[in-house]
Amino acid sequence: MTELNQIYKCEVCGNIVEVVHTGGGTLVCCNQPMKLVEEHKEDEGFEKHLPALSFEGDKLIVTIGETEHPMTEEHYIEWIEYIVDDEVQRVYLTPQEKPIASFVLKEDRKYTVRAYCNIHGLWELKM
Ligand SMILES: [Fe+2]
Repeated sequence: MTELNQIYKCEVCGNIVEVVHTGGGTLVCCNQPMKLVEEHKEDEGFEKHLPALSFEGDKLIVTIGETEHPMTEEHYIEWIEYIVDDEVQRVYLTPQEKPIASFVLKEDRKYTVRAYCNIHGLWELKM
């Protein structure tokens, strides 16, 4: 059973999918079940991955992380997401960009910010 917005990865080919509608089955790729990517919720180690937030008017600016995460071909933040209950905004990044994205903030709503590092996985901050 999947849950909305869960991320699954194929450990064979590297496909990554996000659930946009839940169903009862098991997600399969390359003839094996895809692995649920669990969110990290606390920074650990030298590199920082948790989203750092700042605000400009109705914009939410997200930087990964407290000290900027590396952005090289081998190791970078692939995307940053802003999730409120009825909306997902996602910005894809390249190694040539900074690990920063801005989103239109929904007033007075709880939200989640997530970031995906190609090496260290998924990171989440709930507000
Ligand atoms: Fe990383």
